[in-house]
Amino acid sequence: MNHPAQPHQDATGGDVANNSDDADAGAGEGDHEDAGREGASHPRARIRSFVVRAGRMGTGQIKALAELGPRFVLPFKAEPLDFEATFGRKAPVVFEIGFGMGGPTAQIARTLADHDFIGCEVHEPGVGALLKLIGEQEIPNIRIFQHDAVEVLDGMIPTGSLAGVHIYFPDPWHKKRHNKRRLVQPQFVAKLVRHLAPGGYLHLATDWEPYAQQMLEVLSADPDLVNTSARADGYSDKPDYRPLTKFEHRGLKLGHGVWDLVFRRKADAPGA
Ligand SMILES: C[S@@+](CC[C@H](N)C(=O)[O-])C[C@H]1O[C@@H](n2cnc3c(N)ncnc32)[C@H](O)[C@@H]1O
Repeated sequence: MNHPAQPHQDATGGDVANNSDDADAGAGEGDHEDAGREGASHPRARIRSFVVRAGRMGTGQIKALAELGPRFVLPFKAEPLDFEATFGRKAPVVFEIGFGMGGPTAQIARTLADHDFIGCEVHEPGVGALLKLIGEQEIPNIRIFQHDAVEVLDGMIPTGSLAGVHIYFPDPWHKKRHNKRRLVQPQFVAKLVRHLAPGGYLHLATDWEPYAQQMLEVLSADPDLVNTSARADGYSDKPDYRPLTKFEHRGLKLGHGVWDLVFRRKADAPGA
């Protein structure tokens, strides 16, 4: 499948280890998951989908953070982000959760030059790596939050505003007792859908089959989404605009499959 607006592909990579399952799965629970949800009378356990790891920064990444951070890394503030003022133009905005080392993000932003991209990543070397690519390749249409994407979405992204959401190879949280830390769950997907514009798309990819099955189940059950796949199994062929990630290469070498899912928000969904 091609991108809703524009096709293309190639390959570079992100490179963040994804096996966080040994971390403390209880951290952060009890926080409010969706402060903006109308009528939510009880706080829900917030998804802690990540562990912030100390990572060694390369000199190029440190330099990029210092020189380009002030321009391309946005501060988290609990107030709506003005997309036009941020990017200096009016364009469809795509939100990415967990860009890792940012190679695919940079490449997609170059391919889909008429879109603007907001990437969230908590891993600082990844932020440095993407900034380095932004500098080297002079990419104007990416802004970064080094912050929990769930909070950014809740606090800063207007509802109904996004052309698309990308979540590539989210931490699979393999162990049963950690499955609750997976991002792709009904409540969070409903939140994503509310932030999509009518007809906006959700593109997920994973190499962990049980998570792929969970994604398909959760997305298919959301009443405001339609699956764009024409395949009998419900998964999509990798869209041309998504390059292979380094992480994905590693999975493929281990004999893992890869599953892409592309769903759209119905144009007549409530609030659309
Ligand atoms: C397994 S890695 C995949 C990275 C990249 N998408 C790739 O395919 O190579 C998942 C990434 O998501 C990030 N992440 C997980 N939950 C996040 C959240 N709530 N906000 C921001 N980043 C998050 C992690 O820090 C990690 O770098």
